[in-house]
Amino acid sequence: MSTISSATSSNLDLDSKRLQVKHLLDPKDSNTPDGTDVIQGLTKTPKSIPPRYFYDDRGSLFFEQICELPEYYPTRTEAAILEQYAREIANSTGACELVELGSGSSTKTRLLLSAYESLGYPLSYVPIDVSAGILQESAKRLLLDYTSLQVCGLVATYERALEQLAPSTLGKRTIFFLGSTLGNLTQLECDRFFARVKAALAPGDYFLLGIDLQKPINILEPAYNDSQGVTAAFNLNMLQHLNWRFQGNFDLSLFEHRAFYNQSEAQIEMHLVSKRSHSVSLDRLDLTVNFEEGETILTEISRKFDLQQMEKYLQTQGLKPVRIWTDPKQWFGLVLSQMH
Ligand code: AVI
Repeated sequence: MSTISSATSSNLDLDSKRLQVKHLLDPKDSNTPDGTDVIQGLTKTPKSIPPRYFYDDRGSLFFEQICELPEYYPTRTEAAILEQYAREIANSTGACELVELGSGSSTKTRLLLSAYESLGYPLSYVPIDVSAGILQESAKRLLLDYTSLQVCGLVATYERALEQLAPSTLGKRTIFFLGSTLGNLTQLECDRFFARVKAALAPGDYFLLGIDLQKPINILEPAYNDSQGVTAAFNLNMLQHLNWRFQGNFDLSLFEHRAFYNQSEAQIEMHLVSKRSHSVSLDRLDLTVNFEEGETILTEISRKFDLQQMEKYLQTQGLKPVRIWTDPKQWFGLVLSQMH
């Protein structure tokens, strides 16, 4: 583990004491994939590819565009809830260290930081992200706007960061996980995730969760089948990413994007459908994969939640729901829970 204290950049004159970035990406369990998960996914029936392969540079840009699409309601709905209720959230937790899982560009974080600041609370922020560049740049921008803010960023996977969190500098801690990223985990992954979250919380600490809620199919499906084709490009880009990373020869024109709502599982499923029977090789993985016409690769699930069920689930995890905030149409929910 190396610790880099990096703050001052020529155009952003910052006090380095306010910014610390710890790099916890171990080369062995590093975020650089060795492709074992790709081999596993493409050699079973039905085929799948883990969603982590969406997020190369192009994929991350596509995702930013998705968040702005008229059909993709989750990002703006969650932001609107935060805009309206951030002060209530801050009031509910009181002064605490704010730990964000998957901080990215920290856009929604500003709404929370402003609320804690306006209540006169000290600001201590721990962003966690696998991208060192994005984490550092957004932390620097935050430090310019919040003059009393202390940032201790962790460049790490959630798992590792949660294991290594130092005790909160402010006594209490709130971990927040926004954007309904929880919905991209299977139930088993979700259980494992909560085991790690709980281990990083002391009794009385808080967990703030943003979740996309169940709603009519005519709202859900267009959000993943936008008219500009950005989600389709995001989905297909995964194959280009695999070509680059594992020396593959996926022909993107032989696959098409398909996304639909699986009502019985309450989840959107994104697939790539093979237009005809053909084979693909990934030389670096020593792998050849045969596709039938119409055969699909599952690339993502996006679960849609029920608030009451989520409250029950949190309770089984030792987290007591204290407040829920939602939008007038009840499309998205923010659930604040407290560790027993
Ligand atoms: C990141 N995640 C919450 C998004 C979602 O809605 O499940 C990923 C996404 N996939 C297609 N559009 C957006």
